Formats: sequence, structure tokens, C-alpha cells
Amino acid sequence: MSVENEYNSYIKVSPAKLRVLVAKIVNQVAYHGDSLSNLIPDYLKQIGEDQRSLFQALVYGSIRHYFQLHQLTQKKLKKPLRGKETIVESLLIVGLYQILFSRIKEHAAINETVNACEVMKKDWAKGLINAVLRDVLREKEATLEQIQTFDNLPKWLVKRIKKDWPKHKQEIYEQSDKQAPMSLRLEKSLSTQEYLEKLEGLGISAQLGEFCGQALILDKPCDVLDLPYFDEGKVSVQDEAAQLAGQLLPIKDGDHVLDACCAPGGKTLHLLQQANITLTALDQDEKRMQRVYENLERAGLTANCIVADATNTASWFDGKQFDAILLDAPCSATGVIRRHPDIKLLRRESDIDSLGKLQEKIIKALWPLLKPGGFMLYATCSILKRENEQQMNDFLYHNKDAKECELPDGFGITTKICRQLLPNRHDGFYYALLQKK
Ligand SMILES: C[S@@+](CC[C@H](N)C(=O)[O-])C[C@H]1O[C@@H](n2cnc3c(N)ncnc32)[C@H](O)[C@@H]1O
Repeated sequence: MSVENEYNSYIKVSPAKLRVLVAKIVNQVAYHGDSLSNLIPDYLKQIGEDQRSLFQALVYGSIRHYFQLHQLTQKKLKKPLRGKETIVESLLIVGLYQILFSRIKEHAAINETVNACEVMKKDWAKGLINAVLRDVLREKEATLEQIQTFDNLPKWLVKRIKKDWPKHKQEIYEQSDKQAPMSLRLEKSLSTQEYLEKLEGLGISAQLGEFCGQALILDKPCDVLDLPYFDEGKVSVQDEAAQLAGQLLPIKDGDHVLDACCAPGGKTLHLLQQANITLTALDQDEKRMQRVYENLERAGLTANCIVADATNTASWFDGKQFDAILLDAPCSATGVIRRHPDIKLLRRESDIDSLGKLQEKIIKALWPLLKPGGFMLYATCSILKRENEQQMNDFLYHNKDAKECELPDGFGITTKICRQLLPNRHDGFYYALLQKK
């Protein structure tokens, strides 16, 4: 289907139907383990173009506050809703989100959420939804205070954060309820000051980044198509913490470099724009690799792109060792919960150990591919020590030809090994730079 036809086929839905669609997504994530990135594209096809931002705000908001709102529903419902009726509980969560956290007029929020019961052919639930929402509205301030005392993360993660970051836990909890900022990385040829002025002329306000010279943080997110030079790849949307990867890995013109888990390619582009290198960009996920191809095309850059399992080096490595390797490893993504709030519902405690083992397997497979004297930058968007300093500690203990390199000052928290950034004006990230002796 052409883009235009696809656009014309978007159907505008009633406000009540919109709430039903949001409740269905919340239910899919909470009870069936589906991710927002899988679900949202299909749902967007069912609604009008001008309904998209409201739809996404309701979906992300309801998921972001899910744990608090779920606990509130448990207190308000006489008996829990089970089986097929969990959709009514999900709709209630969408209603509560609107009343407690959105700017939607409260009475409109209640009416449309109650009407949504009819659309779902669950007329029996109208009285229930109406009563709970009106009850909460009457005691809005007290309810807001009450839910501040509820954890808004799964219990296991609260426990891990307490253990790993006793002094920073409160800030981490607070940040995980917020929306992440939208940040830009400008190619080296662009001046941040001139670009700031250009943006200001377009009514887009932004600030300079904290520690990356080419970073700007927008005061409010905007459409990328409104950004000058975005089309040419001279401007990329990339969090400031993620921009450190391109800065910390020492590369120079002529180097042979591996970007080992590269998709969707934010850091691939950055490495290619840092120096005149030959880059092998590898990821095992074919669908995500499409985004790498698009990013390279947008920027007019080339890389040797490979879809393969990094650990199965026999299937893709040609024997020519690398001067530098970026390993942006698969991880729990606990540093980017603000961008992907469904992580709160989808991630299980047991995943952390499995991810730890996978990370170990990838590092072990890639280390022999590095030249003596070469550098490997290990990065994760996790804030958990098991995936970060503990992972590096184990690796350094077992690999005596690896040494930890000191990272420049000016960002993050120095940990037992290398550096951790916790979510703030930037995402949560961990970086360790290793050199082969
Ligand atoms: C954190 S993301 C990478 C983000 C990317 N570096 C960027 O900046 O856009 C981790 C990636 O690792 C990939 N991955 C996971 N296991 C892998 C494996 N065994 N071999 C290759 N890629 C793998 C995933 O498909 C995912 O794209």
C-alpha cells in the first residue's frame, strides 16, 4: 500500500472506542507480555491521524503508572476481576490515569471511559467504572498522596535498586515515573550555538548537553521532520548518555572497527561520523537491521552490514582482527525505563541472570577478535550491577590480557570498574573501556 493510501485508510474512532483500544493495549502488555513496540504500529492504523498523540499519551501514561494504578484498583474493587474481565480492570486503569495524571477534563474522561464499556459490550461494568472513577475524583488530592506511597516498579526491581544504589534509590524511583527528554546529536561540522539559534527561530527551545560537545537537549519533544539537517543525517535523535559511546571508544582514521550489537544503528552512525574508519556493523535481528540500513542511507554513509549471531564468530568473522570494538550489549534496559515503560511489566527477575550469561558469552566470543593494543568499549543501558561492574569484574578476573582503562572525568558515577550514569537529564548507561595488553 502506498503511504498516501495507507494514510487515507486511517479511520477516525469515537472517543469511547479510543479508550477501548488503549485498554486493550494495556491488557496485552499486563496480562499477555506483549511489548508496546510490537503492538502500537497495528493499533495506530485503526485510528485517525489527529488522534495519534492522545492515543499514545494515554497508552504510555497508563503503562507508566501501571503499578500504582493497579494497586489502587485492588483497593477499590470488592473482588478482583479475573480471566476475560481483566479488560475491565485495564479500562479502569486508563480511566484513573486520565483523572489523576492527565489534563483531560475529568467529567469527559469519566463519561468516555464509561461509554467504552458499551463499545466493549460490557454494559454490566458501566456502574462499576462510573462509581470508582467518581469516588477517586471526589478524593483526588488524597488519592494522589496515597499512591505516592505505592511502589511504581515491580517488587524485585525495587529490591535490586535498593541493594545496588542505596544512596540513589529515591532519585531512580522518581525518574522512572517521568518522561525521558528528547536529545539531539549534531554532526561535528555543525556548531551547537548556531543550531540552537536556528531552532529558536523555529520556536523549538533547547539547552546544551552536560558532557557531550555535540549534544542538545530539547525542552519539549518535537517532530524530527521539523529539525533542520535531520534528513541529511547531520542531526540524529540520540540521548546524551548514548552519545558517549562514540566519544569514549578511541578510534582514528584508517581503523578497522566492529560495532557488534549495532541495531538500530544510533552508535553506528556516530562512529562513522567520528573518523574515517572501515566499520563492520553486526546484529542478529534482521528486522532491527532495516533501521541500520535506513540510518546509513539517510546519512550517506556505508558499513559492512552483517546479520549474524555475534557469538557464532565462525559464521561471519573473516580473520582480520579489529582495532576497536563497540559492544553495546543486549541488557535489561533498566536505564531507559522512561522511554520504554512497558519494561516495568515485561522484565522478570530471572531475565537478569540470563542476560548476564548472554553478555558474558558475547564478550568472550569477541575478545579474541581484537588486536593486541586494541580497545573494547562495553556498554549497556542497564543500571544493575550484575550486568555492569560485576560483569566486567568477572571478565577482568578471567582474562589476564585485558586491562581496565580510565575514563575521562565529567560524567556519571565512578564504580568499582569504570562508570555508571543514572537516569536524569540523560538515560541510565554503563561504560567500561578495556584494552588488550
Ligand atoms: C542495546 S541494543 C543495541 C543498540 C545499538 N547499538 C544502537 O546504538 O542503536 C542491543 C542489540 O543487540 C542485539 N543482539 C542481541 N543478542 C545478539 C547476538 N547474540 N548477536 C548479535 N546481536 C545481538 C539485539 O538485536 C539488539 O539490537
